[in-house]
Amino acid sequence: MNTTAKLLAPLTKGGHHFRNRIAMAPMSRRRATGDAMPTDNMRIYYGQRASAGLIIVENTAVAPNGVGYQHNPGIFSAAQQKVWKQITDEVHQQGGTIFIQLVHTGRIGHPANQQGLPTVGASNVAAAGMVGIPGGNHVPLPVPDTLTTAGAAAMVQAHVDAAIAAMEAGFDGVEIHGAHGFLPAQFLHPATNQRTDKYGGSIVNRSRFLMEIMEGVAIAIGKEHTGLRLSPFSGLNDLPTYPEELATHQYLAEELDKLGILYIHLSDQSVNGQPPIPHAYLEDLRQRFHQLIILAGGYTPATAEARLQEGLADIIAFGRPFISNPDLVERIRYQLPLAPADPETFYQGGDRGLIDYPTYQIIKENCGLADDLQPA
Ligand SMILES: Cc1cc2nc3c(=O)[nH]c(=O)nc-3n(C[C@H](O)[C@H](O)[C@H](O)COP(=O)(O)O)c2cc1C
Repeated sequence: MNTTAKLLAPLTKGGHHFRNRIAMAPMSRRRATGDAMPTDNMRIYYGQRASAGLIIVENTAVAPNGVGYQHNPGIFSAAQQKVWKQITDEVHQQGGTIFIQLVHTGRIGHPANQQGLPTVGASNVAAAGMVGIPGGNHVPLPVPDTLTTAGAAAMVQAHVDAAIAAMEAGFDGVEIHGAHGFLPAQFLHPATNQRTDKYGGSIVNRSRFLMEIMEGVAIAIGKEHTGLRLSPFSGLNDLPTYPEELATHQYLAEELDKLGILYIHLSDQSVNGQPPIPHAYLEDLRQRFHQLIILAGGYTPATAEARLQEGLADIIAFGRPFISNPDLVERIRYQLPLAPADPETFYQGGDRGLIDYPTYQIIKENCGLADDLQPA
C-alpha cells in the first residue's frame, strides 16, 4: 500500500494548484541584512524547496517597528519588495506556489533590532524572556509602548499595505501571523490586552485587531489569497492559556468562515514542550471553518498522511524536515531516509545550514550509487 497517497495528491482551491499537500512551514532563518533586506541566498534556499505543494516564507515584518529579531526580513520598502520578486520568480520558474508570512512582533523584540524604534504592544506589559541584540548580547524583553487606538488602526493598515506589496512582489498569497504571541496574539490575550477602547475587553473587542487585519487584507488582495496562522493553547512567548481561549478561537473560526479566507494554519508547539492542541479542538474547527486547514508541528510522513486520511486537515506543513531535506517531497515519494537538521545553523551561519543541505540524488551520486529510485 502507498502510505503517502493523500500527501502526494494535488489540490486545487481558490485558483491555486498545489501539486501536493506538503507545505513548507514558515521558518525564520535570520539571514536578512541588519536593515531587514532579504538576500540572494534566500532566493537559492526557497528555490531549492520549490517542489513543496506550498512554500510559506518565514515571518517577514510589515513595519520597521515590528521586525523584532536581528536579521529578520521585512516587506515595508520598495527595495525589499524588489528582492522578494526575485525570490518568487525563482520558485515560480520551478512550478512552485509561494506565500509569505506577515508579522508584527509587537512586544517581542527590541529597539536595537528595529532602527532604534520602540517596541509597541496592545498594552504596556513586557514578556518574560531575553532577546539577542547586535554585539552578541542578550537583554530582557522591554516594556512595550501601548498603541493608541489610532496607532492600532495604523498597524492594521501596515498589514494590509504589506499584503499588497507582497502580491506586487509576485507572491501567490499571504499568511498573517496570528500565532506564537506576536502582536495580533497580544491583542487576543487578556493578559497583554488591558485596553478599554474598541480593541479591548470582550472577545469581540480583543479579536477586533486581528479581524480588521483579515478583512482589510481579504478585501485588498482577495480572500483566496489570504491565510492565517494561529497557535491556540500553545502558551508561546509568555502567553499562557486563559479561560476564554476556546471561546475566542471558536468566535474567530466562525468569523473567518464568513469571510471565506483560503486557510487557517494551526501551529502545534508540543514539539517544543508546550501543551498540544487538543484533538477535540481540531474537530471543532473543522465544523466551524469550511475552507482549507493546514496543520503543523512534529509531523512525520506517516503521521501527516494519517491526519489527512482522518479528514482533519487538507495540507500538512513540515518545518525542520524542510531545512535539512530540500527534496523533502521526493524523499517522501520514494520513502527515502530524512536527514536531520542542525539547530546550530537554524538562525545563523550564512549559507551554511541554509543552502548546503544536499538532495538525496546528490548524496547518491557522491557515493557512486546507481540511479534506481522507484516510487514506493
Ligand atoms: C528555525 C525555525 C524557525 C521558525 N520560524 C517560524 C516563523 O517564522 N513563523 C512561524 O509561524 N513559525 C516558525 N517556526 C515554527 C515552524 O513553522 C513549525 O511550526 C515548527 O518547526 C514545528 O514543525 P516541525 O516539527 O515540522 O519542525 C520556526 C521553527 C523553526 C525550527
